[in-house]
Amino acid sequence: MKTRRNLLLAGSSFLSAAATRWFHQKGWQVRVLTRRPAAVESPAVPVSWDGESRSDWEVALREADVLINFCGRSVKCRYHAANRRAILESRVLPTRLPGEVLAECPMPPRVWLNAASATIYRHAEDRGMSESGGEVGAGFSVDVCRAWEDEARRWRLRETRQVLLRTSMVLGNGANSVYSVLARLARLGLAGKMGSGSQFISWIHMEDFCRALEFLVSGDLEGPVNVTAPEPVTNRFFMEALRKSLGCRFGLPASAVGCVSQWLD
Ligand SMILES: NC(=O)c1ccc[n+]([C@@H]2O[C@H](COP(=O)([O-])OP(=O)(O)OC[C@H]3O[C@@H](n4cnc5c(N)ncnc54)[C@H](OP(=O)(O)O)[C@@H]3O)[C@@H](O)[C@H]2O)c1
Repeated sequence: MKTRRNLLLAGSSFLSAAATRWFHQKGWQVRVLTRRPAAVESPAVPVSWDGESRSDWEVALREADVLINFCGRSVKCRYHAANRRAILESRVLPTRLPGEVLAECPMPPRVWLNAASATIYRHAEDRGMSESGGEVGAGFSVDVCRAWEDEARRWRLRETRQVLLRTSMVLGNGANSVYSVLARLARLGLAGKMGSGSQFISWIHMEDFCRALEFLVSGDLEGPVNVTAPEPVTNRFFMEALRKSLGCRFGLPASAVGCVSQWLD
């Protein structure tokens, strides 16, 4: 039984920074695979990679006890052909690479959590989508989610437990986080309901997200896991709660065409 507590994160992302703080406080050593070492903040230690090819970074993976891969180009962009390709490849390739290395590794990390998304489920206003009874949706974002999960599943690793983090919108402070964008809209008086407002929103607080990571690292679950607060809320309810929490007295509604949920897709 290994006793080391080395955590390797892939991507210097918003979620990765939160995971760094959480696990470091609990005594873990944290390293981060990144294309931008200068973006990695202490106490995490950057390890350079390009997310596409094998090189010296493999040593860090072989030494890790746990791998959490957070790579994926932001979806906050226009969905033209080049961005669609980047959204897909920035998820599939950085998932394939560790899979290749782990498949050859005599003493691999015992756990591999890979980012995925609750976006994989169909748009549902009738019932919640669980891992067992949920129905997969259709469209570009869902195709990306499937390809991403399929890539992780392709590596059938006997010594490494794999978990797919079907995460909903994570609410926490941070540059470019969804919450920061929504809070800015609210302060501008623009956080009314979006479209009909009856669509459901799944969300999770950043602290609960980190707790979930810790639970998944130490537990025995494998495969897809919904990482989200148990009760989704309607967009109308969510926007009202956001406005109240920020002391905003009104919020103009957005039409279904122009609303932020397009790029949150
Ligand atoms: N935030 C959420 O609410 C949420 C919800 C559901 C799912 N997710 C998923 O969870 C993951 C992390 O989310 P986040 O909000 O923390 O993302 P983020 O802040 O946008 O960071 C994503 C990271 O992915 C890495 N990356 C981007 N393109 C890459 C490429 N071509 N090759 C290798 N690495 C690349 C970058 O790391 P470097 O620049 O350091 O290389 C970047 O920091 C994403 O895959 C996202 O889709 C997030």
